[in-house]
Amino acid sequence: MTRLPLPTSERLLLGPGPSIIAPRVMRAMAAPVLSHLDGDLVALLDDVRARLGRVFQAHDGAFTFAVSGTGTSGMEAVVANMVGDGTRVLAVVTGYFGDRLAEMCRRYGADVTRLEVTWGRAVDPEAVRAALDAAGPRPFDVVACVHAETSTGVLNPVKDVAAVAHEFGALAIVDAVTSLGGHPLDVAGWDLDAVYSCTQKCIGAPSGMAPVAWTPAAQARRVACRSFYFDMGLLEDYWVRRKYHHTLSSTLIYALQEALVAIEEEGLERRWQRHERHHLALAAGLEAMGLGLLPPAGERLWTLNAICVPEGVDEAAVRRTLLQTFSMEIGAGLGPLAGRIWRVGLMGASSTPSLVLLFLSALEHALQVAGHRCPPGAGPAAASAALP
Ligand SMILES: Cc1ncc(COP(=O)(O)O)c(C=O)c1O
Repeated sequence: MTRLPLPTSERLLLGPGPSIIAPRVMRAMAAPVLSHLDGDLVALLDDVRARLGRVFQAHDGAFTFAVSGTGTSGMEAVVANMVGDGTRVLAVVTGYFGDRLAEMCRRYGADVTRLEVTWGRAVDPEAVRAALDAAGPRPFDVVACVHAETSTGVLNPVKDVAAVAHEFGALAIVDAVTSLGGHPLDVAGWDLDAVYSCTQKCIGAPSGMAPVAWTPAAQARRVACRSFYFDMGLLEDYWVRRKYHHTLSSTLIYALQEALVAIEEEGLERRWQRHERHHLALAAGLEAMGLGLLPPAGERLWTLNAICVPEGVDEAAVRRTLLQTFSMEIGAGLGPLAGRIWRVGLMGASSTPSLVLLFLSALEHALQVAGHRCPPGAGPAAASAALP
């Protein structure tokens, strides 16, 4: 019997996630499986909780842990415990994932008002203030906002959004799926109330766990949770009080712990600076090639670069060349940006000087194959000049 072969060579994962995983994290997953209530595993869970608390910079007393599932499960866990029938939610929609968050709140029964922002721009906290101010007799309970909008490459000012939300007595839900471990994020310092992320982007582990910071303020306004799987009380019973809830994957915990150890070894601030440095080098290279980024400077993510496709270029053909010739994956545009942008992630182990230079050279080649000429070598030369 023949079988489909598993991959044997590395993909250069430069899309919106998953990103490349360091060998030490891959090796951690080869450790023997433990059951979900084994004493050695629950000790590891305590260690992971403490490390996540430091990476989130969460409040004392916050419950930091990881939901079994991808980033969307983190979103659902937070929403299911903060939003119920009639909860008034102001959903800031700056792209595809803001829309998903709004839809999730709607499905859990919330009365959702959408604050729509042009895709490619960050929300202005004053617009949030105006929307909250216009609430009428029944104020908003929750403001939901994506920190790093992966569909547009935009960084939203969630610290200011949360401060405005609090002025009006609302709690702030923040999606940090594309920022945790790559951009500054200070849950306690910024007083965010409930924050979720994923493991497959800037954290540097495989997908399958969703880190969450659930703060005392969120706990105080918790709603009766309709979901069994995402019930914060039941999850805390398992993670803290060791009561069976679901069969957590020890293998994914090993990977997450190793990735978190690597983050603390590197240092959070140095890691943020690395992401910034490589984004700036990439942006310099793209500019020298005559290519633009969708968001204006000052609103751009360091972790995800939304590159405008030049007029007349078949964007899918370029991605195909990158994949077939260089085993390099980048992302396509979503929704209204389909065909208009490429999404290039430089996250975790994918944020290196060599990958920046390799990507720019490969892109020059793929554009040339697609009939679009750039000044030869200009991209890598400009990026290399921008690197220390
Ligand atoms: C900002 C944001 N939120 C949520 C998600 C959903 O995460 P997942 O695909 O891991 O479920 C993503 C995925 O890319 C994302 O970028």
